[in-house]
Amino acid sequence: YHVVHIAAEMAPVAKVGGLGDVVTGLGRALQKKGHLVEIILPKYDCMDYSRIKNLKVLDVELYSYFDGQTHKNKIWLGIVEGLPVYFIEPHHPAKFFWRGQFYGENDDFKRFTYFCRAALEFLLQSGKRPDMIHTHDWQTAVVAPLYWDIYVPQGLDSARLAFTCHNFEYQGVDAPGALASCGLNVPQLHRPDRMQDNFAHDRVNLLKGGIVFSNVVTTVSPTYAQEVRSPEGGRGLHLTLAQHLKKFFGVLNGIDDEAWNPATDPLLEYQFSADDLSGKYANKAALRARLGLAPADASEDKPLVGCITRLVPQKGVHLIRHSIYRTLECGGQFILLGSSPVPNIQREFEGIARDFEQHPHIRLILKYDEALSHSIYAASDMFVIPSIFEPCGLTQMIAMRYGSIPIVRKTGGLNDSVFDADDSSYPEAKKNGFTFTAPNEGGLNFALDRAMSYYKTDRDWWQRLVSRAMKMDYSWNHSADEYIELYRQCLERASSRF
Ligand code: ADP
Ligand code: GLC
Repeated sequence: YHVVHIAAEMAPVAKVGGLGDVVTGLGRALQKKGHLVEIILPKYDCMDYSRIKNLKVLDVELYSYFDGQTHKNKIWLGIVEGLPVYFIEPHHPAKFFWRGQFYGENDDFKRFTYFCRAALEFLLQSGKRPDMIHTHDWQTAVVAPLYWDIYVPQGLDSARLAFTCHNFEYQGVDAPGALASCGLNVPQLHRPDRMQDNFAHDRVNLLKGGIVFSNVVTTVSPTYAQEVRSPEGGRGLHLTLAQHLKKFFGVLNGIDDEAWNPATDPLLEYQFSADDLSGKYANKAALRARLGLAPADASEDKPLVGCITRLVPQKGVHLIRHSIYRTLECGGQFILLGSSPVPNIQREFEGIARDFEQHPHIRLILKYDEALSHSIYAASDMFVIPSIFEPCGLTQMIAMRYGSIPIVRKTGGLNDSVFDADDSSYPEAKKNGFTFTAPNEGGLNFALDRAMSYYKTDRDWWQRLVSRAMKMDYSWNHSADEYIELYRQCLERASSRF
């Protein structure tokens, strides 16, 4: 198939969280299976340009509609991780992608609806006629209504639409007039069965539009696909999903197992594999030295607990904080790498970081740092993810691949990928971590204390658990096949309509 992903993120050049990893990981997996995959992204000023190969501006003049007039765009083509990527650079006075950050601007709704309209215009003008257009999250959800209402009549009509919701918490809600900016017919769309917000009836909802107008809709794990069917999980969109259940599926994300491979990872000081963990322990010693944490002494090698996360309420911020203190009580060491878009949370963690500044066992590093993240995955023995909800979660999979045992709350994709070592209902071969359910300190202690106790009392058992977790298959291989099957089903359906 010819698949075009239209997205707001792509790792490693424009990554805020897991969405960026998924666009690249799924794209590469589909490409490896012989499909033609192309990506369309905004040309952000703040991308990591060093990771884009052969970037060049194309000799095309693309005019796209917005707010009653047409605007010129430059189109750039580059290769990211082997995938061809078209970057759209608007010549619009608002400098939509010249803001020094990917999201968090007051006019995000405008920035991304502009981008979606320009992306479809590019497909139309360039003569590309993909089989599938695959969009992600609210930022590119408006592609679906734009496609049927404005582009199919003009002859861009070869494609069916796949839409993946990575998180139902962010929906892209605004006044109906905002939809008119990109040329859509507001009275036709501001209706309960189309894009009217299910809570705020005087608003429109982009995520809802993506669900209603796409041929196939997925979310990123089977458990989350169940959870979002409740009012709380779906944040109001449970009602819309109920009407579109036949085209709604939960497909568990994978990780790019070439990019995340401890045996070849160039960002590690010492490479290692499941059959020889000596490199892992060398990384642990090296990272302790680098961050000024106490080394192992003759009598014990303290367990090192890692946590790498966006610090937002979804991730169970209070439990992350608690896990730092609990680890200390249990005689472990803790490294947190994270940052928060929420000023109060960022300030709170800066306070904790200061309290522990010279501490021999605790380090908080409050920034985004890809290279350091690799070192922490490799050096840590355990990895905490106490999320309140988690659509999929990739860090548990990366942690396991690097031999760090996940301690997670049983929710969303964590529930589909981490299986408790003490739960006898699972076969031995499946057990790979520690889980808890209650979203409170007692819950977290229940899982963390057990992990600590195994680590301290039975190191052979622990090493077997580590090897098993490392050998599990978290690659995209299987999930990419599921996507191909979903593409096939909607391409084979007689009617093209959603
Ligand atoms: P989410 O998308 O909700 O943030 P995921 O678990 O799906 O959660 O993906 C998070 C991704 O972002 C992982 O690849 C993780 O390693 C990375 N990440 C998160 N915070 C940081 C950070 N401070 N520095 C480097 N990488 C980070
Ligand atoms: C979202 C979710 C996360 C998921 C990621 C990739 O950011 O919060 O759970 O892993 O998307 O799908």
